[in-house]
Amino acid sequence: MESLYIKLREQAAVHGQEHVFRFWDRLDKTGRRRLLEDIGNVDFELLDRLVQTWVLTEPPEEHFRHIVPVPVIPPVEPGDTGAAAALKAGEQALRDGRVAIFMVAGGQGTRLGFDGPKGSYPIGPISGNSLFQYHAEKIRKLQELYQVTLPWYIMVSPSNHGATQKYFEDHDCWGLNRTDILFIEQRMVPCVDPDGKLILEAPGCLAASPNGHGGCIQALVEGGALEDAQRRGVDILSYYQVDNWAAKVADPYFIGYHCLRQASMSSKCHRRNDLREAVGVHCLCDGVYRVIEYSELDLYPQLLQVDPEGEPLFYAGNPAIHLLSVPFVRDLYAHFIQFPWHKAFKKIPYVDQEGCVYKPDTPNGYKFETFVFDALRFTAHAPVALEIRRSGEYTPIKQFEGVNSVMAARASMAEYWAAWFEAADYQVPRDTEGRCAVDLEVSPAFALNREEFLSKVKGKPFHLDSGIAIHADGSFTLGESTVSSCQR
Ligand code: UD1
Repeated sequence: MESLYIKLREQAAVHGQEHVFRFWDRLDKTGRRRLLEDIGNVDFELLDRLVQTWVLTEPPEEHFRHIVPVPVIPPVEPGDTGAAAALKAGEQALRDGRVAIFMVAGGQGTRLGFDGPKGSYPIGPISGNSLFQYHAEKIRKLQELYQVTLPWYIMVSPSNHGATQKYFEDHDCWGLNRTDILFIEQRMVPCVDPDGKLILEAPGCLAASPNGHGGCIQALVEGGALEDAQRRGVDILSYYQVDNWAAKVADPYFIGYHCLRQASMSSKCHRRNDLREAVGVHCLCDGVYRVIEYSELDLYPQLLQVDPEGEPLFYAGNPAIHLLSVPFVRDLYAHFIQFPWHKAFKKIPYVDQEGCVYKPDTPNGYKFETFVFDALRFTAHAPVALEIRRSGEYTPIKQFEGVNSVMAARASMAEYWAAWFEAADYQVPRDTEGRCAVDLEVSPAFALNREEFLSKVKGKPFHLDSGIAIHADGSFTLGESTVSSCQR
């Protein structure tokens, strides 16, 4: 340990960060080992660059001469013949085993007031099924449908890796083969104070945060997923965020457009509800595909313009659903140094000179993140942007109540499946405003789409008066009341 200590102390001193050793004499052996591990994980070259560019100076503002909406492929309607070629190409790619599922799940459920990995949140109002289970059941169904293995790569962070893996194992991976699931860990980046100094969150511990979902480019390579993909003949990764229970993973239409246009990265987009909706905006900036994050919209007033009907002119919001080609990821990894970073001023626990830990009431330091959608600017080919409808495809869960919440997602589930039940001639209880008044759930492993649902349920004696959850094997649980619908 002594030689490592000398080496790291010298390195920290060279980069003006020797203060992180100020409690060294007070630390026991375990504490010292932990501190050396934290400091050993710091990429000092990157740290210097982040501090110089983002903290001690402001990076030059980006100016674009022309910002225009990205050309969008309209949403696929049932029976859409125009999209038939895309469907054919996408289904072929799936059958040929060219696709893997890639979910980012590095976050905790903090904003939900939930203690655990966000994916273990019980989103099913009657079944209590978790977000992870919903995603797993979709994959199981697609594997049956296309008679293929869809490897599932899951990006976790050091803080939720163990809990996530255990959750999967405790649930026997919902019937998926464990050897087809790979957890890959994203890197952490240290936080710094306004003088660019590393922050100790405890006498022997550096404050650090996950490096953002753009960190998936490094995690895919360093965690072995890219190698696994190449070994299996996979060249397309179907990317989505764990918090969107409805994400259509490995959508054959989307994959088809991606293949037909030989794209290296493709994106779905949805109509923004309003100009201030907390979603990024897809656009072309001087001809380059970009997503401008919602927190940066004021820098680009064009993006806040409306059309004569009052709708956002730049309507393409970012549901964070992409396809990434494997060679493109490899190439991004090789040039990751060019990947842009974003900073956020946050409240970061710290220790004072005496070693007492404080939780500040106001922001006191910077966290750094990369965003996966910034990869779009490195694409060589014309972008594929496919518009989707929200219902049944985009209902992210960012908080418990309000916009993009658990309650909103449950309401949207009920409406989505109510339409299926009504198509199958069931009476769906509705309130005076026509909204579905009970909770409804259909396991994706039972029916992935309306046609499959209709072929399976017609004539079955389901009663919807107090809500119902239909499970993977066709058994069901009746809701006990309309409580969660009443709360909507
Ligand atoms: C994100 C997008 C926004 C998009 C919206 C769609 C960013 C910066 N913005 O906003 O453009 O319109 O989702 O719902 O992401 N994650 C990791 N590791 C990290 C950080 C995040 O795995 O280091 C995962 C989280 O588990 C989560 C997802 O990425 O599933 C999104 O993170 P979140 O912080 O919820 O992003 P938003 O601000 O909601």
